[in-house]
Amino acid sequence: MTPADQPRRDLAAQFARTFGRPPHGVWAAPGRVNLIGEHTDYNDGFVLPLALHRRVLVAAAPADVTSTARSRQQATVARFSTATVEPADITDWAAYVAGVAWALRTGGYAVPEVDLLVDSDVPVGAGLSSSAALGCAVARVMTDLAGADIGGTDLALLVRRSENDFVGAPTGVMDQMASIHGRAGHVVFLDTRSLAVEHMQFDPAAAGLALMVVDTRAPHQLADGQYAQRRQTCRDAARTLGVPALRDVPAEDLEATLRRLPEETTRRRVRHVVTENARVLEVVAVLRSGRNLDAIGPALTASHASLRDDFEVTVAQLDVAVESALAAGAYGARMTGGGFGGCVLALVDHTRQDEVGAAVEDAFRAKGFDVPARFTAVPSPGATRLT
Ligand code: GLA
Repeated sequence: MTPADQPRRDLAAQFARTFGRPPHGVWAAPGRVNLIGEHTDYNDGFVLPLALHRRVLVAAAPADVTSTARSRQQATVARFSTATVEPADITDWAAYVAGVAWALRTGGYAVPEVDLLVDSDVPVGAGLSSSAALGCAVARVMTDLAGADIGGTDLALLVRRSENDFVGAPTGVMDQMASIHGRAGHVVFLDTRSLAVEHMQFDPAAAGLALMVVDTRAPHQLADGQYAQRRQTCRDAARTLGVPALRDVPAEDLEATLRRLPEETTRRRVRHVVTENARVLEVVAVLRSGRNLDAIGPALTASHASLRDDFEVTVAQLDVAVESALAAGAYGARMTGGGFGGCVLALVDHTRQDEVGAAVEDAFRAKGFDVPARFTAVPSPGATRLT
């Protein structure tokens, strides 16, 4: 037994105490950070996320009449039937569980009733895709218990449908694809139009670097409405420009294209999406070239500036974290995830993480912000059955 096995064994033991029988297995699915490619996934664009070592574990076994979902992190217990549950029946954390049963059932799969116990060390509300991790772990549980053979990408799409149509969160497909397709030591280069996945080697430690994640702990209340608004603006702009999606707007002569849009804010939103797609390809080119990883730094920092100035999804804590990390010597830094709070990532020398982290903390203290949390991202495997 390795120390990493302990959480799994604890969870299985707690399942047995709670439900009066051992689980049939324990499944895991990771959270993610996005290296670059923000607000591009719902524009048919490119993203470059990596699965994290922070993950959701689910112990589960088939049940007789109804399903029960419990979590070590949540007080409420959800009871529902996978055969009948509908959106709005369940609205708390367990909607991410019941929604997967609903998406499978309405997709034509027979879903058994199931008892589940969830454990997670993915911070909630930090933009690290704790909900996609939960959905993907549960999807693996339910398809395994049902004996359904569904490919990874179809499973990710199913989990997105659960989030979009059951939970009511209008996400793109990046988070679910990262959680399903993550691979140790790799980033997931995803074309969100074709859904083609390419695993690209990404090993900061081997280059003497670290990808540091700073959780700003900034509250992000407005996030949902703002996210939906950005999506709508992008959809409307694509229509005005006569293209299927902003992915199809060429980076060449961008300013001339933007002049065809009647409004300054929309022009800036489009500029972000088009330049961000180009930056993803720039980072991919560096990864392919075998050049030192620090060469991706400027693209990361440019992504942040674009998210701040053109897409306007940053908040003061995100900007201060990026600026202070850069001032302390980070090669590049940017917000990651949807924005309006959440996390920043910074590419730093492996030996200077504490120094850069302390500089960010000092800057936060000086501004009167809450003390941020931080960890080093380890590119990790995607959703899987552990036992
Ligand atoms: C959230 C969504 C993703 C993606 C990002 C922004 O994390 O869930 O689909 O749109 O925001 O890049």
